[in-house]
Amino acid sequence: MDDNKNLFKQIQALYRGLFAFVVAFALIGVGLIAYMNNPQLFTSDITASETEYVPIPEDDSDKIEDGVHVRTGFVEADGLMETVNNCTNCHSSELVLQNRMSKENWIATIRWMQETQNLWDLGGNEEIIVAYLVKNYPVIKKGRRGALTDIEWYDL
Ligand code: HEC
Repeated sequence: MDDNKNLFKQIQALYRGLFAFVVAFALIGVGLIAYMNNPQLFTSDITASETEYVPIPEDDSDKIEDGVHVRTGFVEADGLMETVNNCTNCHSSELVLQNRMSKENWIATIRWMQETQNLWDLGGNEEIIVAYLVKNYPVIKKGRRGALTDIEWYDL
């Protein structure tokens, strides 16, 4: 009977030991994985937590809202930035926007500025800019006016 009790106690102790070992092994494993994912986990890095977050100021000088480049009023389309960068340095974009021209006349205007106003050689950008201007600021063809719509006639 005593022998049985002893054996039982021994087995119990063995199981406890085994259990403790498994638990310790699991804890070390979890700790190791956590450390591998974040090596700073167990070092109290005060500077990191006290460093204030300073947001980088947003550069919205080329912001586009509703398809319009806000700073200049140019419509968003291929060649926008080439046009912004080359055509708003000397005068306001308004001067460009208030004009609508054919391709020939846009080129002639550029030539005139190059000959008399020190406009630089636009190089490969010229084609891009002219295409942008012709596409977005062409001559509005004014023929006979369109038929009136939405007229509210009144009784005499
Ligand atoms: C180097 C300076 C300079 C640059 C860059 C420049 N312009 Fe001009 N532009 C001028 C000057 C100066 C005038 C005349 C302004 C005035 O009459 O008050 C002018 C006038 C104009 C006019 C009005 C012309 C008219 O007949 O009334 C248009 C349109 C124009 N520019 C378009 C452009 C376009 C498009 C670009 C980009 C390719 C551009 N400009 C880039 C100097 C420049």
